[in-house]
Amino acid sequence: MTATPLYCAEPARLDAALRLCERFSLLQVKKRPTDGYWLELNGERLELLTTGKHGAVYAEFVEGAARHRREQGGGRGQPVAKAVGLKGAKELPYVVDATAGLGRDSFVLATLGCRVTMVERSPVAAALLADALERALRDETTRDIAERMTLAHANSRDWLAGLPEAQRPDVVFVDPMFPDTDKKAAAAKKDMQAFQHVIGDDMDSAELLAAAIAAAKVRVVVKRPRLGAPIAGVKPSAVLDGKSTRFDLYVIKALASG
Ligand SMILES: C[S@@+](CC[C@H](N)C(=O)[O-])C[C@H]1O[C@@H](n2cnc3c(N)ncnc32)[C@H](O)[C@@H]1O
Repeated sequence: MTATPLYCAEPARLDAALRLCERFSLLQVKKRPTDGYWLELNGERLELLTTGKHGAVYAEFVEGAARHRREQGGGRGQPVAKAVGLKGAKELPYVVDATAGLGRDSFVLATLGCRVTMVERSPVAAALLADALERALRDETTRDIAERMTLAHANSRDWLAGLPEAQRPDVVFVDPMFPDTDKKAAAAKKDMQAFQHVIGDDMDSAELLAAAIAAAKVRVVVKRPRLGAPIAGVKPSAVLDGKSTRFDLYVIKALASG
């Protein structure tokens, strides 16, 4: 993968651009690139851009689909909430989203009240998440949700392995970018198509699953396309089928239910 540079299009935000470059080890360029993919900081937000066929890709917790999910989401009955074990749970679990991506699953779980740590190893995705989180913290309609979310820029396998006992999460959520079967489904979405170019496939999901099972106190949830192969290695203890998505559950301990 070639490194994705960051271009600041808004002179008033050069300091913010520098902070992002330092935090995520990104290379800042003075001119807007003319090919490939690049991050661009404008007056409003950080975006992943390309000269190719699709438009800007960015993480968003305030407007658009995130607003819709916040206002019309299916509550604790929706598949992802059931998969994490929220239905009937007395206490909300602390969740580590080990493959944070653009943070959509993390945001749903934080909206439902969970404390969520988003772990993301790609500097591009992590920078997009940091920018979205900052905007969500500034907006009064999302501040309380964003306050339940934190971001760690790391490889989850190492990050989970290094957790002290007292900081082990109840649930680890895993949604890797798999090669083969789900490539077509992923390519259908422009943001995942851009991710495929910039980040590539996650070839080490089996190691990540092992680290997740060792770290989670209650369960590990793996999100897969409905017909995708399970992550190699361990057979799930249960499977929750959705319309286009399936959740493979690796249950370590049943959540205390009320
Ligand atoms: C399919 S995307 C996740 C999408 C996410 N669930 C969402 O709602 O936006 C997979 C992401 O996981 C990240 N990832 C994969 N393996 C990882 C690991 N071991 N540690 C940290 N991040 C990882 C990739 O960089 C990519 O951004």
